[in-house]
Amino acid sequence: MYDLIKYVHVLAAITWVGGAFYAQMLALQIQRSNDPEDIPKFGRHVEYIGTRVFLPASIILFVAGAILVGQRWSFSQAWVSIAIALWLLSVLAGAVYLGPRMKRIGELFVAEGPGSVAARSLLDRLFLVSRLELVSFVVIVFLMVVKPGV
Ligand code: HEM
Repeated sequence: MYDLIKYVHVLAAITWVGGAFYAQMLALQIQRSNDPEDIPKFGRHVEYIGTRVFLPASIILFVAGAILVGQRWSFSQAWVSIAIALWLLSVLAGAVYLGPRMKRIGELFVAEGPGSVAARSLLDRLFLVSRLELVSFVVIVFLMVVKPGV
């Protein structure tokens, strides 16, 4: 049973972290695009996939992870508590910043057109935050595999 739950946990991790990595690679490409429509379109797709795939994956990942901890580990172990803190930070960043900001950027592109300077500067900041999130995912995967202190 433990291995089955770990399998679900790792599948959710692959979906969430792999998806975040792919979105970053695509963002780098699109930031260099000459087609002004590319960025608004990208924003709409990321918001759509983010709420319907990445958010559920992050919740499944957490529930499965917590069950695993309950079965064989302790929430006070550093690798677990740091991973939970980074997970919470990422979910909060998504709910409080990335999600609403993506929506605002979409509205600006509709109101001011694909060349909107305000929307593009908000998007640059959003990309920076999501890159920091990706760094935190890399740290979490290290914690999960190496389990420092165990
Ligand atoms: C972005 C967040 C996370 C990612 C990418 C992630 C990824 C992984 C990976 C790849 C493994 C397999 C490690 C191995 O077999 O050596 C793993 C195992 C595990 N994860 Fe996570 N995890 C995340 C968050 C969490 C959280 C928040 C918890 C606790 C609530 C958690 C608890 C566990 C536990 C207990 C294991 C099993 C350790 C073992 O049996 O070796 N994970 N995780």
